[in-house]
Amino acid sequence: MNNFLTIAMPKGRIFEDAVQLLKKAGFQLPPEFDDSRKLILEVPEEKFRFILAKPMDVPTYVEHGVADLGIAGKDVMLEEERDVYELLDLKISACYLAVAGLPDAKINDVAPKVATKYPHVAAAYFREQGEQVEIIKLNGSIELAPLIGLADRIVDIVSTGRTLKENGLVEYERMVEITSRLIVNPVSFRLKDERINELVERLSKLKTGGFGNENFKS
Ligand code: PRP
Repeated sequence: MNNFLTIAMPKGRIFEDAVQLLKKAGFQLPPEFDDSRKLILEVPEEKFRFILAKPMDVPTYVEHGVADLGIAGKDVMLEEERDVYELLDLKISACYLAVAGLPDAKINDVAPKVATKYPHVAAAYFREQGEQVEIIKLNGSIELAPLIGLADRIVDIVSTGRTLKENGLVEYERMVEITSRLIVNPVSFRLKDERINELVERLSKLKTGGFGNENFKS
């Protein structure tokens, strides 16, 4: 079992892009991969063990060394600031973090409320801007907050822009571009360097160009 590589995969929207990428790199992944509720999937042929985690938790598993590697969005990396190395920009699941809100919102609110899944990123951003805000942490459906008066603005991921549009919200500022990264536990990187370097080499040879967005070309 020791020569297995354990890879923490983010459940949800990045998952499909990540699986597609691994397949494109020539790794044989079983069909059940696409449609399983299992949280641990072993692929003995490739000596891979995948653990399926909540995206925000991927760096935690890697930092603690229970996963050697992980695939995590840059948004999660910025928010979590875990003690892991970023090995590769996989250039998949491209999106960006933005400040958004209602189109007719008053601009000069005193200490406006900002709802977000990314309290650290948002706090750092507004601190840099010299603006005092009150951060309200939510776990999802962030766009709801300005609609029902919980917050004046939101800081959230924009991918296609559909969620903002369909809820009558507009983007105020584009904060940072996001793609998914291959991350590694520093000790695993030392102990399993040969296998990890081979994986990195195979993945970095791919011309990904950003799966999961309009730029994707197969
Ligand atoms: C994300 C994000 C936005 C939406 C953006 O939410 O928080 O709500 O996707 O995508 P779009 O620009 O393509 O509409 P997710 O679907 O991950 O669910 P969540 O609301 O639980 O965070």
